[in-house]
Amino acid sequence: MHKIFIGLLLLITFASCHNSQQVCSPDNNIKVEVFHDENGKIGYEVQYKNKKIIQPSYFGFDFKDLPSIQNNLKIINISHSSFDETWEMPWGEQHFVRNNYNEMIVSVAETVEPFRKFDIIFRVFNDGIGFRFSFPEQDNLKDFILTDENTEFQLTGNHQIWWQPGDWDIYEHLYNHTRISEIDAIAKRGHKSLAQSYIPENAINTPATLKTEDGIYLSFHEANLTNYPGMTLKIDTSNFQFTSELVGSEKLQGKAKLSTPFSTPWRTIQISETAGELIESKLIVNLNEPNKIGDVSYFKPTKYVGIWWDMHLERKSWDLYDKTTGKPHGKHGATTEYAKELIDFAATNNIHGILVEGWNTGWEEWSNPVNREGVFDFVTPYPDYNLQDIVRYGKKKGVELIMHHETSAAINTYEKQMDSAYKLIKSLDVHAVKTGYVGKLAGGEYHHGQLMVNHYRKVIETAAKYQIAVNAHEPIKPTGLRRTYPNEISREGLRGQEFNAWSVDGGNPPSHIPTIAFTRMLAGPIDYTPGIFNIKLNPYKPNNQVNTTIAHQLALYVVIYSPIQMVPDLTDYYQNHPMFQFIRDVAVDWEQSKVINGEIGEFVTIARQERGKEQWFVGSITNEDARNIELSLDFLSPDINYIAYLYQDGTNAHWNDNPTSYKIDTFQVDTKSVLHLKLASGGGCAISIFPESSKK
Ligand code: NOJ
Ligand code: CA
Repeated sequence: MHKIFIGLLLLITFASCHNSQQVCSPDNNIKVEVFHDENGKIGYEVQYKNKKIIQPSYFGFDFKDLPSIQNNLKIINISHSSFDETWEMPWGEQHFVRNNYNEMIVSVAETVEPFRKFDIIFRVFNDGIGFRFSFPEQDNLKDFILTDENTEFQLTGNHQIWWQPGDWDIYEHLYNHTRISEIDAIAKRGHKSLAQSYIPENAINTPATLKTEDGIYLSFHEANLTNYPGMTLKIDTSNFQFTSELVGSEKLQGKAKLSTPFSTPWRTIQISETAGELIESKLIVNLNEPNKIGDVSYFKPTKYVGIWWDMHLERKSWDLYDKTTGKPHGKHGATTEYAKELIDFAATNNIHGILVEGWNTGWEEWSNPVNREGVFDFVTPYPDYNLQDIVRYGKKKGVELIMHHETSAAINTYEKQMDSAYKLIKSLDVHAVKTGYVGKLAGGEYHHGQLMVNHYRKVIETAAKYQIAVNAHEPIKPTGLRRTYPNEISREGLRGQEFNAWSVDGGNPPSHIPTIAFTRMLAGPIDYTPGIFNIKLNPYKPNNQVNTTIAHQLALYVVIYSPIQMVPDLTDYYQNHPMFQFIRDVAVDWEQSKVINGEIGEFVTIARQERGKEQWFVGSITNEDARNIELSLDFLSPDINYIAYLYQDGTNAHWNDNPTSYKIDTFQVDTKSVLHLKLASGGGCAISIFPESSKK
């Protein structure tokens, strides 16, 4: 009786969609309203529980040699519909996803010449909103150059924001935590560790996450980025307003070459009352179309070792030859012998993939700043690497190769070779490739522009034809396309672990992943390569280090979602290390995921259930602040007794002073248990929980 009364009251408080120009979320908490003003400008605003989140904001489009679309518009029709479905992820952070929204399509036309028309489509979910512009085929707008999209987001105050600069070439900046008024992307020009960087405006890249004075969390991003440039958000620091600013092309003298009919990507705002709900939100994938490529069971989520960290530590090299003598210099990493040694290690440690970088010819010239076209050959191995033999050897031991294609951003060369390169992979019965795009693009193009968006898509579509899954480094941002193309498995698109090996600015601070979890990770899977045990990198890199404890490194296997997780360190550091048992055990494919707690940049705890099993894994990490975490295990099944293995920071552990100190505890637990975790400064805790009957 009491419950029914509260339910009704909530309905009365928030069910505020009264007229046809409004659309509310299924739970009525979020309301979007469109309107048009006396100049014929169309605008929208957004409320959450009757409080404004976005104040009146307008739209507009600029074109080369055509009048802008902005004023003299009228609404000619509005239609409403609802949608509710549950779809299955072939692999993912959860098995099933509910996709439930109310939709409003606002059809708009110019009242003066050239009488162009378009639709604005709003979808309002319980976890946020998405809207896109859709231009039908029409006589007065056919083929054109878009010089910008001016979609505004007028915020309600000088909120806290976690942002990275609107770089047109990389997403490999640290996130900054400031007020909106303090955003200064220009100050971030001249990336200290990378040449590939271009920041033309005081703009930010997405995802960008905010917290309002009322404690509401908002994250801005985009979904289904197709045949269109990536969007940055230009900041008006005085009025707390964002305006879309698309990545451009010098060649186009504009932003995008388009023809009607076309639709923009969805502009998205995730909205929640806790930071953790942002991570649980499925808005971005829900705004993408269902699987278009069919069965992807050829790809199995996996942990993988690699001939990789060796090169970042400069213990080995990608190239084979000394450029002056033309003879092998003796440091080449990708040898048949080393690959087999790693396959043996993987096979005995429940790891089923191996990545080998530096296997193909061309690496002697890969960082040539002038022209990298024609340098790499994606079908010819170096003579000390027997590709067929390695693949066979691995298969016998249950370890499959992940191919590597570093394109060095020479996309013409790559597109020319793509089919033959993928044919080779298919002929080996191999099903994954890691791609890379280090370096500047030729011809006045940028990594996040329309040309490259289309290139990255071509890679995914072509790879799908050959049953190959793709893990892109230096990628375009994830926008949920993994739903449509589930061979798009993971990507970089952030400052990865590699920065700890060679960056000149001290590496990734302890707050890095506690920030990434609530920003970049909202967009999609991350190939971070967690799990470094030799934290101080001695003797290889005495001036660099990893800025976390070992326990924090372990917890990243759960905190960071990716269907492929690297086990990157040199095997000597894992052999016989008691903490390595967690990496052996941890799963990579999940039935469900629960964010237990967290605050942006501070800490986060995530529990994930292995897909199809009663086993759980928990990861908890903190920034520089040591903290105690109470972890209720109420997510466990009530009928089962479990054993929990806690891989923790040692009593005096500290990310800098004592990062390798650890302890391992074992407890019998059940759904009523509460664990008290002590995280060191820059520390963490990783937990595996197995039913007692399956006790390891
Ligand atoms: C950059 C990638 O992020 C890294 O993982 C790779 O080793 C190098 N490029 C070489 O391809
Ligand atoms: Ca990289």
